[in-house]
Amino acid sequence: MENKRDMTYETFLVTGAAGFIGSNYIELSLEKHPDRRVVALDALTYASTYDVIKPYVDEKLISFVKCDIRNPGQLEKVFDESRPDVVVNFAAESHVDSSIQNPSLFYETNVMGCINLLECARKHKTKRFLQVSTDEVYGSLSLDDDRKFTESDRLSPSSPYSASKAGAEMAVLAYHRTYDLDVVITRSSNNFGPHQHYEKLIPKVIRNAFFDKKIPVYGTGENIRDWIFVKDNALAIDEVIEKGKSGEVYNVGGGNEKSNLWIIRKILGIMGKSDELIEFVEDRPGHDERYALSDMKTRSEIGFSPTGNFEERLHETIRYYVKKLEKALR
Ligand SMILES: NC(=O)c1ccc[n+]([C@@H]2O[C@H](COP(=O)([O-])OP(=O)(O)OC[C@H]3O[C@@H](n4cnc5c(N)ncnc54)[C@H](O)[C@@H]3O)[C@@H](O)[C@H]2O)c1
Repeated sequence: MENKRDMTYETFLVTGAAGFIGSNYIELSLEKHPDRRVVALDALTYASTYDVIKPYVDEKLISFVKCDIRNPGQLEKVFDESRPDVVVNFAAESHVDSSIQNPSLFYETNVMGCINLLECARKHKTKRFLQVSTDEVYGSLSLDDDRKFTESDRLSPSSPYSASKAGAEMAVLAYHRTYDLDVVITRSSNNFGPHQHYEKLIPKVIRNAFFDKKIPVYGTGENIRDWIFVKDNALAIDEVIEKGKSGEVYNVGGGNEKSNLWIIRKILGIMGKSDELIEFVEDRPGHDERYALSDMKTRSEIGFSPTGNFEERLHETIRYYVKKLEKALR
């Protein structure tokens, strides 16, 4: 399989660019490749944070198009006008709890939206398609199992969200095998850092603690997640675009396995708040016990490994949200 290291790409179409990881990826791309032509695409759902990328659009450092990836006609127009060399697909419905309430939307966006993008990429002979996926496609390890998932492990998703992401991966790989489309997939662990929606664990805990509101914890809170700082994941994605082998999947782990309860107590400690804010609530159906990723392949083939100290990054993240909450109160 061909290594893409020497190939140059000019135009990047970044979908879901106004979301949490997408907006961090835009910032990283501007820092690392200021000359790159970037077309940011987003449907601007409730989960988006357009304010983050708006200044770059206003300064004409990137262009922005409001587009729903579920609409093939809209997408076709974007491809006709922008002619991307690379598609980086972050666009998705991403909240597991919402996927349990409204699974159809998750399959429409995450699977059919991805297929619409793949079809445009095939027709327009896009040079590379990166699908941003998740460790949740592997399903759960039990708490007493010390294995880590590798890229060749069987996919066994538990929630409508993770099933939709696994479905999208299958479509991406089928486009590679059937149409020879150049594709790469990253599966990252839980991201944390700036620009995330307050519905997600870390921002929610910070906000509730800030307002001295109860913090709901599913079940016993012992469920383990691996955490990666969002800028590290953005960098890994960029490196996989440059160096990943076509048709391959790359795990992107943070090497920070923590229980949800540990994370919550840590944040409360840093913010000087009492553990009494914690309120145990009925567990989420199909709640996975433990996610853990082996990133040996990504380290050896891509040369990527996460940087920085987890606790310092958590402090930085707390400072970011507290500042934002204080500003909103003024
Ligand atoms: N956040 C994590 O911890 C994590 C971990 C692993 C993988 N991922 C994956 O990374 C990607 C980005 O996740 P995120 O946390 O930034 O999610 P997010 O919910 O913050 O952002 C998703 C973005 O996609 C946009 N979007 C939704 N539906 C769309 C549609 N139909 N057309 C166009 N845009 C649409 C939203 O407006 C939003 O801006 C997702 O594919 C997710 O599955 C996330």
